[in-house]
Amino acid sequence: MYSLNRILIVFALTAIPLLAVTSFAAETGRYGIGKTATIEEIAGWDIDIRPDGKGLPKGKGSVLQGEEAYEAQCASCHGLFGEGEGRWPPLAGGEDSLTEDRPKKTVGSYWPYASTLWDYINRAMPFSAPQSLTPDEVYAITAYVLYLNDLVEKGFVLTQDNLASIEMPNVNNFYADDRPDTNNERCMKNCKDPRNIEVIQSLRGITPDQKKTTAEENPAKSKLSEAAIEGKATYTTSCLVCHASGVAGAPSLDNKDDWAKRLEQGMDTLVKRAIKGFMGESGIMPPKGGNMSLTDEQVSNAVQYMVEAE
Ligand code: HEC
Ligand code: HEC
Repeated sequence: MYSLNRILIVFALTAIPLLAVTSFAAETGRYGIGKTATIEEIAGWDIDIRPDGKGLPKGKGSVLQGEEAYEAQCASCHGLFGEGEGRWPPLAGGEDSLTEDRPKKTVGSYWPYASTLWDYINRAMPFSAPQSLTPDEVYAITAYVLYLNDLVEKGFVLTQDNLASIEMPNVNNFYADDRPDTNNERCMKNCKDPRNIEVIQSLRGITPDQKKTTAEENPAKSKLSEAAIEGKATYTTSCLVCHASGVAGAPSLDNKDDWAKRLEQGMDTLVKRAIKGFMGESGIMPPKGGNMSLTDEQVSNAVQYMVEAE
């Protein structure tokens, strides 16, 4: 195993084409199981049709032949004119609807290539008997669906040679994503110290700069003591689940009267009860809120946060 890996790595490093490496691995039977698939075995899967027509079998079919076959095999679901029966998908219509709130995406309004139509029908339709159509039938029905979308004339005959030349109306709206991966240019020298980089979000209507000023001047934020600021994270992960809304009798943070009464007992008592647990009149406060991995200081800080934040 070790030496085989070494050999493979050496092959890769010496830049011998990948093909050489794979066929080497196949010959020696890398895992000692399986066999190379034959061309006949692959053929059943290898049925994709490219936009330029590659993959199409020889054949032809006219709009008129397609009309007959479509009415017999497709219209019950997709409608006589491709409008779609009930909730079955429509195959025609929807021109110029793509920019509307509820775009109607059909073969004619949305699909970029006619080859996809041929491929889809050949591969998957009719719904209950996929791959039962002959190539000529697929050509004819494809021609008819194109006709239903006003893309070819009634006398049109579709063949393996002219399918790629049919231009679909929406083809230009499909293109490789040309947006950059990031908006910023990569910094290679004299870069900012990462410790001083702040991650800021922009909220709708507020630019990052405005937001920073608001946060700095926010009195509610600066009011918290250092212990409370430390405790906020602990509160969020271990206490909030009960104390935010008052689950199972827990005093909720915005019930000021309840907290005022509890505070009269003194901070020490509150902290001790939060650490050791406490059964009172309204319910059971589990030790450390049930999170025994918290240190006493963390719990104490969380109580501080709860007292100040209420
Ligand atoms: C029993 C109902 C039924 C019949 C009959 C049927 N289809 Fe379909 N067809 C469907 C359904 C359901 C879908 C959607 C499948 C999906 O989205 O996975 C579909 C999808 C399609 C689509 C893709 C539509 C889109 O915009 O995504 C085409 C094209 C199509 N059918 C063509 C045909 C043709 C041509 C025939 C006749 C040879 C046919 N269908 C017969 C039910 C049917
Ligand atoms: C499973 C729910 C639950 C969790 C989680 C929980 N508490 Fe409580 N807590 C309670 C209940 C219920 C009470 C009210 C007990 C009573 O007064 O009957 C309470 C009461 C308190 C009190 C008031 C004690 C008193 O003397 O009045 C403090 C302080 C407190 N909790 C702190 C915390 C802290 C800090 C955490 C997180 C580390 C936490 N709690 C997590 C349920 C919970």
